[in-house]
Amino acid sequence: MASPRRNSIWRVKPVDVILKQGGETERSLKRTLGPLSITAMGIGAIVGTGIFVLTGVAAAKYAGPGLILSFIVAGIASGLAAICYAEFASSVPIAGSAYTYSYATLGELIAWIIGWDLVLEYAVGAAAVSIGWSGYFTDLLKSLFGITIPQALTASPFSGGIINLPAVLIILLITALLVIGTSESSRFNNIMVAIKLAVIIFFIVIGAFHLNPTNWHPFLAFGPGGIFRGASIIFFAYIGFDQISTSAEEARNPSRDLPLGILWSLTICTLLYILVTAVLTGMVSYKQLDVPSPVSRALILIGLNTAGSIISIGAICGLTTVLLVLLYGQSRIFFSMARDGLLPAFFSRIHPRFKTPYLSSILIGIIVAAVAGLTPIDVVAELTNIGTLTAFVLVSAAVLILRRTQPDLRRAFRVPFVPLIPILSILASLTLIVSLPLVTILRFLIWLVLGLIVYFVYSRRSSKLEMTHSS
Ligand code: ALA
Repeated sequence: MASPRRNSIWRVKPVDVILKQGGETERSLKRTLGPLSITAMGIGAIVGTGIFVLTGVAAAKYAGPGLILSFIVAGIASGLAAICYAEFASSVPIAGSAYTYSYATLGELIAWIIGWDLVLEYAVGAAAVSIGWSGYFTDLLKSLFGITIPQALTASPFSGGIINLPAVLIILLITALLVIGTSESSRFNNIMVAIKLAVIIFFIVIGAFHLNPTNWHPFLAFGPGGIFRGASIIFFAYIGFDQISTSAEEARNPSRDLPLGILWSLTICTLLYILVTAVLTGMVSYKQLDVPSPVSRALILIGLNTAGSIISIGAICGLTTVLLVLLYGQSRIFFSMARDGLLPAFFSRIHPRFKTPYLSSILIGIIVAAVAGLTPIDVVAELTNIGTLTAFVLVSAAVLILRRTQPDLRRAFRVPFVPLIPILSILASLTLIVSLPLVTILRFLIWLVLGLIVYFVYSRRSSKLEMTHSS
């Protein structure tokens, strides 16, 4: 195994060192997650604001009923990336997601960029989901109890309000749950995932009896380009499967269960999304879907008010699990980066009793709550997408590199048809990136520049690889 190059931004953290660190149980997290919990965690992370909220705006403004095709396009891009993630998850089974994998393969600078980038996926993604949660919650309070929260307290200053208070409060509540511990949180997660799947199937079945095929015309209401524009937005609905790999240090048998969990959860979700979108755009005109809670609204529009409230309850549970998993993932990525010295040690401090990185969770919770309260959903959702897609590009490239540089590394799961699949994965993610609005691409570039400044000013010098190998 090559030793890391001194002082180099390309120094890699050897995979055997990473694996050894994963085995140091005293300093590590508790191994409590089994295969069912891992797949449930995948579905818990995946099905959320993308299908419950963004589907409406994407159908109404960008793709019409052709959004069904957008889900296929985004599903293919995610599936290709998922296969690449699965190989990494099975060979580098330790917390840290794409960050850890790239530290072993592409070097410290790229690992840092990915870790920085994943903040968009996890923390900013959690803000987007909490805004979606707030939409369904506000709707439910009104339809069930007749309580109307004033708009000033349910919308950001950019959407005609002052603060999105329900979004802030749900983030703080989930943060408290994560501080208490993974095992409790994952039990809660399993129940919520079951409720979420039940309401989605309920929606598909009820909706199937109320289809009006004329609603599917014109199918490509915004032309073929709308398929890709729509895909770049609803790609959000697929985010989350990669989060499974960040739980590797808490999985009982990571090399078998992680790839299985990733592929199973993604396949189930893709099928559900295609059905939900077909039913949604077949029940009502796509033009009526640009609202904060389109799935329940569609039922209410055809007179099924009680069914609409049931969907809202399920959506609230579903979005809660997504929040749980995204905030969990973010604190674990910071945990890994801090353990490597790239972030202050503060982020890797474990609570003596709960065995969770509590300080990291609390700080992230406060910042995400502020972003959720003050930003519109489309801004945060698009930033989340571009951050995640960039991570997909880098992970797929890393599969190709690791096959050449470390051909003998044990891989419980191998990507078939290398180099074809990783190359297609890179091209698919790049296609979605360039389909996003220019302003989102610019915001993303600013975020990257900030990250590079932090790396060169702080992280590069405080890196544990720097300490070990420069003396
Ligand atoms: N895929 C997750 C959602 O749609 C992030 O909420």
